[in-house]
Amino acid sequence: MEKFIVHGGSQLEGNVNISGSKNASLPILAATLLTREQCVIRRVPDVSDTNYMLQILQNLGAEVERASGTVTIKCDKLHSHEAPYDLVRKMRASVCVMGPLLARQNRADVSLPGGCVIGDRPIDLHLKGLEGLGAKVHTEGGNIHLEARFGLEGNVLDMSGKHGATVLGTDNVMMAAVLAKGTTVINGAACEPEVVDLANFLVSMGAKISGAGTPRIEIEGVEELGGTEHTVIPDRIEAGTFLVAGAMAAKKDIHIRRVFPEHVKVVTDVLEKCGCPIEIDETTITIGKASTPLGANITTEPYPGFPTDMQAQMCSLFAVTPGISVVTDTIFPQRFMHASEMKRMGADIEVDDGRAVITGVEQLSAAPVMASDLRASAALVLSALTAKGATEISRVYHIDRGYEHIDDKLLNLGARIDRLPA
Ligand code: EPZ
Repeated sequence: MEKFIVHGGSQLEGNVNISGSKNASLPILAATLLTREQCVIRRVPDVSDTNYMLQILQNLGAEVERASGTVTIKCDKLHSHEAPYDLVRKMRASVCVMGPLLARQNRADVSLPGGCVIGDRPIDLHLKGLEGLGAKVHTEGGNIHLEARFGLEGNVLDMSGKHGATVLGTDNVMMAAVLAKGTTVINGAACEPEVVDLANFLVSMGAKISGAGTPRIEIEGVEELGGTEHTVIPDRIEAGTFLVAGAMAAKKDIHIRRVFPEHVKVVTDVLEKCGCPIEIDETTITIGKASTPLGANITTEPYPGFPTDMQAQMCSLFAVTPGISVVTDTIFPQRFMHASEMKRMGADIEVDDGRAVITGVEQLSAAPVMASDLRASAALVLSALTAKGATEISRVYHIDRGYEHIDDKLLNLGARIDRLPA
């Protein structure tokens, strides 16, 4: 295992290039199961989650080549329909192989993903949607067995749940429906940009999909899909994370490049309200520290609302912003592991029932802290950038799951961060 030592007082300046989206890459890699032909996917970030997904595809029989950010995959000789526990438990997003496996082989055996630190991670909506397409589903020994002996049939489905839409659930059902007989309508579909990127990938393979990015997606099943080439969208959560880094520690300002600004509009809107000077051009966002920083009250919602994946990072900013800010996570109410670690650094955060009330302090102070989930860990790095002293962050493998070389990118911006063996 490795740890970061982050020296406080960093003054960031210069440029950072945002990588391709982890959360768009994962379902797109799974979607290559839907064709026997070769797919070439560019700007796949080199993070452990995408590496796990490639291992799962190879375990199923895919031929995989990776040359820096470009992945070439061919799934013409699948010899399994199983995604085993030892791989799924490492990365719950591997459940998104269910839909394509079912569509390709009429069966899929996938381990139940289990929970994680941000809360219970059910997949009831995934299974309800796949059953709605005619799959028979039963769970045994911690595995989900799905079968559609005579193929899948299009249907009108409602995918919304008590916490709103499901991103990977929408992906799974969309990937199953593209080869189903007849037409499928997904009501209550997730509208995230990553769902749209997957739909665009499937359409480039020959799928017939309309309405992606809206709560109603219509899919007309086709006989088969072909190979394609695709470039993954930029990672809006990595971009948001560096926006907060700039808001907290920019010397004058930093330039965040290779982004789609409209994908992070809700984040830049909040940061502007907090007093940060922001300039936006076609693919670059420039942000500086606020001369008079203001707190805010934010509530996470499905896209285009404020993303739950940016909630922890905002807690870092508000922990050192004068006044009281309130952060409510309606999607993952338990997603406040970062709060207890920040309190070790002197933050004044009270968490109760999915809501954090944060009273800004002058400056946090270094303390040994432990990374937990991906975004909580990134938030600890942000807090350490402006803390007094050198903060040791252990278990940085959590960060490496979803941020491509975050320490190198921060070093290039002038941060003082070392990656050391634990
Ligand atoms: C995706 O997870 C993202 N992961 C998560 O990002 C992100 O936090 C989440 O969407 C919400 O935006 C990937 O795309 C790989 P959901 P997903 O199904 O699809 C409930 C990160 O940090 N729900 O949209 O698994 C669920 O409990 C990760 O990059 C059900 O009730 O999330 C949650 O409250 C963390 N039943 C809400 O819906 C289901 O069957 C949204 O979950 C499925 C979900």
